[in-house]
Formats: sequence, structure tokens, C-alpha cells
Amino acid sequence: MIAIGCDHAGVELKKSIIQTLSEKGFEFCDMGTDGEPCDYPDMAEKVCEQITSGKCERGILICGTGIGMSIAANKIKGIRAALCADSFSTRFTRLHNDSNVMCMGARTIGPGLACELAEIFLTTGFEGGRHQRRVDLITAIENK
Ligand code: RB5
Repeated sequence: MIAIGCDHAGVELKKSIIQTLSEKGFEFCDMGTDGEPCDYPDMAEKVCEQITSGKCERGILICGTGIGMSIAANKIKGIRAALCADSFSTRFTRLHNDSNVMCMGARTIGPGLACELAEIFLTTGFEGGRHQRRVDLITAIENK
């Protein structure tokens, strides 16, 4: 199950992602907003809570630029959020950073690219090995 959420800037892009990826068999828990204006930090917290509680495996957050969502999500313990706008970074943030949340900007990328990136994010595994040590170091910073 994938948690997904957006602020008012990301509603249309979120709908495209849910529609396109549902057709490919992915299941979403849509945390809103459905259109009402909302503050992106509140939405980031809501979606990330689904992940830290174990209810969802990964999350997708969309705002105008994706930046506000990624700043907010990365404040939450256990969350490694990556702002994704190209396929290389999206693939490697899964392979090397074991990112559990992807953030995208509805005002910076179109629906075709966003759906492609979401699919890469959701289907690429973590490489582990030396990258596990580095992820553990991030967790150690978090626990200081
Ligand atoms: C909302 O207008 C906008 O500030 C927000 O969607 C986002 O881009 C913030 O980073």
C-alpha cells in the first residue's frame, strides 16, 4: 500500500498518478487534499505517519515544487524523502538511500514524467551493502 498526499497545488497530478498506477496494480491510500487549500507540512506529516506506523510501505507527496514537502517530510524520524524530477536520481535514491518517500512538484514536471518516476520509485529495490552503513549513519544523526 502506498500513501499519497498533496496540497492544493498538486491535486491534478496526484489524480493522474493514482489513476495511471492503479491500472498497473499499485494500491493507494489517498490522504487528501481533494481540492481544499491546505498547508503542505500538515499533509507531509499525515502521509509520513502512514509509513512510520507501518500501515504503508512508501509514500508520495506532491506540492507546487516538491521542495516544501521534502523539507517537511525529512523532519520526521524514520523518513528519508527525496525530491524526484529525473529518472536517474529517482532510481538511485532507492538503490542507495533507501528513500521511503518521493516528493514531486506539480508546477515543475508534467503528468507523464511524474507517473514514470513514481513507477521507478515503487519498483526499485534498495541495494544494501555499503549503502546500508550510510543509511545507518543517517539514522544515527536522527537519534542524536
Ligand atoms: C503552495 O502555493 C506552494 O507554496 C506549495 O505547493 C509548495 O510549492 C511549497 O513548497
